[in-house]
Amino acid sequence: MTGKVAVVTGAASGIGRASAEVLAAAGARVVVADLDEEGAAAVAAGIGKEGGEAVAHQVDVADPGAVDALADAAVSGFGQLDVLVNNAGIMLRRPLTEVSPEEFDRVLSVNLKSILYGGQAAARVMRPGSSIVNTLSTIIDFATPGTGSYAASKKAGEALTRTFAVELGPRGIRVNGVAPGWTDTGITRQRHVADSGEFQQGRFDELAHKMATASPLGTVAEAIDSAHAVLYLASEASRCVTGHVIRVNGGASMS
Ligand code: NAI
Repeated sequence: MTGKVAVVTGAASGIGRASAEVLAAAGARVVVADLDEEGAAAVAAGIGKEGGEAVAHQVDVADPGAVDALADAAVSGFGQLDVLVNNAGIMLRRPLTEVSPEEFDRVLSVNLKSILYGGQAAARVMRPGSSIVNTLSTIIDFATPGTGSYAASKKAGEALTRTFAVELGPRGIRVNGVAPGWTDTGITRQRHVADSGEFQQGRFDELAHKMATASPLGTVAEAIDSAHAVLYLASEASRCVTGHVIRVNGGASMS
């Protein structure tokens, strides 16, 4: 990735952080973008300490103007934009019968519209040979109670991924998705924080075990596993791959 410039959203934590670190370790200059400004700055500083090059940038990916400014910041700071990882996401656990219009809108704005805004902003500045990677989810293959809004955002994200791939392919820009399975990150931990603020480690470990045994490989993914898929899709190694979704879930679902 030497000579390449990558923007990773949601890079203050979890899969985005691992992706930013892996891309930087492979030689890319990275814009660590997140709503969490302090978290992004800490990740960028950590990359710098390891000998990589990164800057932090605060962004709300649900805001098209802010996403445009993010793409511009990569170009003005580093001269170009070769890789965009649309990774920032939020989870809502609520039965569809109880979801409010505002909640539904927010999930779609952060998880889905961000893919539209990111793709548009990137397409404006990217040159042939560039790559967009969208973080989807294994939920695109399942229906489970309480996850309808999230699943709708990710399944529609897959549709945007494929359509961007056919629209931007003739310009030499590839667009793919990574669909992580259950992974120990902020999103999955957040569900196990009791009202008292205490993290329920026992219940978390039980769920991790259940998810692991549901996969043929008998394991759950780690953030680094998805980051490696991101690196592959960002790099020349995948130069002939577009419109594809890599499932990083131990084989829990296949398509
Ligand atoms: P995480 O909670 O550790 O990281 C998400 C990051 O996104 C946070 O740093 C957060 O501040 C940032 N973010 C949230 N809203 C934002 C906004 N509006 N603008 C900019 N940044 C924002 O969670 P994780 O797991 O690393 O999530 C990354 C992606 O992976 C998400 O798209 C998520 O849906 C997806 N994913 C995660 C799975 C898991 O089991 N952890 C499974 C499948 C998909």
